[in-house]
Amino acid sequence: MQALSSTERGYDLLAEKFDFTPFRTPQPLLDAVGHHLDTLGPFNSAIDLCCGTGAGMAVIRPRCRRVVAGVDFSQGMIEVARRFVAETPGMTKIELVRGNVLSLPFNAAFDLAVSFGAFGHILPEDEPRFVSEIARVLRPGGRFVFVTTFMPPILSPHYLFSRLFNAAMRARNFLIRPPFIMYYLTFLLPEVAMLLNQHGFAVEVRDMGFKGMWSAARLVIATRRSH
Ligand SMILES: C[S@@+](CC[C@H](N)C(=O)[O-])C[C@H]1O[C@@H](n2cnc3c(N)ncnc32)[C@H](O)[C@@H]1O
Repeated sequence: MQALSSTERGYDLLAEKFDFTPFRTPQPLLDAVGHHLDTLGPFNSAIDLCCGTGAGMAVIRPRCRRVVAGVDFSQGMIEVARRFVAETPGMTKIELVRGNVLSLPFNAAFDLAVSFGAFGHILPEDEPRFVSEIARVLRPGGRFVFVTTFMPPILSPHYLFSRLFNAAMRARNFLIRPPFIMYYLTFLLPEVAMLLNQHGFAVEVRDMGFKGMWSAARLVIATRRSH
């Protein structure tokens, strides 16, 4: 049923089980991002884009003084996040809003935006809109922090699996409506750094120092320029 649903409805169906799937961003990766955020914060207000069940919100909440917001277009995921994030460390106010990250339901000037495990849901043609929405809700000097990689080597198992998966997804979306938007190998370096630059961000890329499976992970810290 999930495979035949829209992206939003698919996540509604998965919501209660999501934290037991490999799709939730793994905790060691979230913890590593948290350590880097300690070098950039503290922050007054932060937002987790495509927050899902709140994995990223739990990382930013203790590092945030006033408000931690989460936005996701699946009501089911938001409901799970509401229960989970309330139990996480920190007294910071929580705001969970159902909405599309391509048209953010905020005018706030956040200090920090993060997003985990969600770029595959943004079509490449929508990436400029996604990035301009993030720039719009950050204050000058505010940060957009996320993890990505460079394109894996052609003929590597990762590359071949991703291309095969994307081809199957394109075939599924050609045949079945509504579409389920999920493609691998998107929002990658160095192209994403150029995109961020075009939208007024200064970009720093840090090696996260992982060995093995995640050795390719890079932390991107994009800082919104004043002008
Ligand atoms: C793989 S989950 C990741 C959840 C969480 N960030 C994590 O790392 O565990 C992707 C989430 O993105 C949400 N999503 C996908 N496209 C979206 C969009 N255009 N606007 C808002 N939420 C979206 C889905 O509903 C889902 O909750």
